[in-house]
Amino acid sequence: MSNRNTPATSKSAVRVNVPARPAHSYDVRISAGIRAHAGEAIAAVHSPCRAVLLTDDTVEALYTDTVERSLIEAGFTPFRHVIPHGEASKSAENLLALLQHMAEEHLTRADCLVALGGGVVGDLGGFAAAIYQRGIPFVQIPTTLLAMVDASVGGKTAIDIPAGKNLVGAFHQPSLVLCDPECLDTLPPEILADGFAEVIKYAVIRDRALYELLRGDAPRAHMAEIIRLCVEDKRVLVEEDETDKGARQLLNLGHTVGHAIESFSNFTISHGSAVAIGMVIITRTAELLGICEEDTADELCDLLVRFNLPVSCPFTTEQLFPAALSDKKRAGGFITLAIPYGIGDTRLTTVPVDALESYIRAGLGD
Ligand code: GLY
Repeated sequence: MSNRNTPATSKSAVRVNVPARPAHSYDVRISAGIRAHAGEAIAAVHSPCRAVLLTDDTVEALYTDTVERSLIEAGFTPFRHVIPHGEASKSAENLLALLQHMAEEHLTRADCLVALGGGVVGDLGGFAAAIYQRGIPFVQIPTTLLAMVDASVGGKTAIDIPAGKNLVGAFHQPSLVLCDPECLDTLPPEILADGFAEVIKYAVIRDRALYELLRGDAPRAHMAEIIRLCVEDKRVLVEEDETDKGARQLLNLGHTVGHAIESFSNFTISHGSAVAIGMVIITRTAELLGICEEDTADELCDLLVRFNLPVSCPFTTEQLFPAALSDKKRAGGFITLAIPYGIGDTRLTTVPVDALESYIRAGLGD
């Protein structure tokens, strides 16, 4: 596809063009320090306008002044809306408060929303942009690794409701994504590790080159290139299947069991840790079924441990199976699982939901 996609050195500006629909392609720009030039970058895709700058109370103290100043310098008229950090902020109450604030500031369809923060800010902001006046443009400036390599790209937006996470949302593609690898310097180690679980996931799904980079010397010196490879992997899947009915479901690798682990732990086990363990379980199952190359699970475990992620599960099949049944990827009596055949080669298999129990049991070895 696009010949505009360029490789990264650690400091270079990189673009990956995501053609979600022919009518709506957008760039993901990856560049150290780009947050200070956000206004100029946004002005290249949107005429200067009023802009709601959505962020959380952690990111506000770190990066919001810089981004706001750059928006003003580029001719935008920003106003801030700050939410508390954490998953609890992805609520209907916060969504309504944000929409109300946008209306009180007389935001119109000619204006835009800028989401500066991690996945919670991006998901809430993207959903508000999707439904405010039936849709306004928005820009993602992700500040966590997980948001840079996954949540900010591909247009999935949502809030949580008491019945479950991400149950109410919309597909609404951003106009631009700006990733500044320098923002990763302030991330707590466990939040960085969470992001690496998703990075490793891309390596297992389809990216042997990424796997070699992660296994090599000092992978953290190559964050721009790591982000670029992940975004490029996601671009390919979103281009083929924007609305998550086919190839995009490969991104669920480790997530069916991972969500069950997260939920059974009452969210004391983080998303990234749960996905790491979920990937190990499904890879061990695939090896036992004889469809995955031998030693893949051990190779995966070595890599996960290198990035401070757990590889063993504290729960039993009896505990996890009921929680896994509530996976929203389930359709009727069937569920589609992403199964590794080897590092860099993961495929989709649809199985009856009852089979999931034996898949979990085999992977856990219990
Ligand atoms: N986070 C998975 C997806 O975007 O499809």
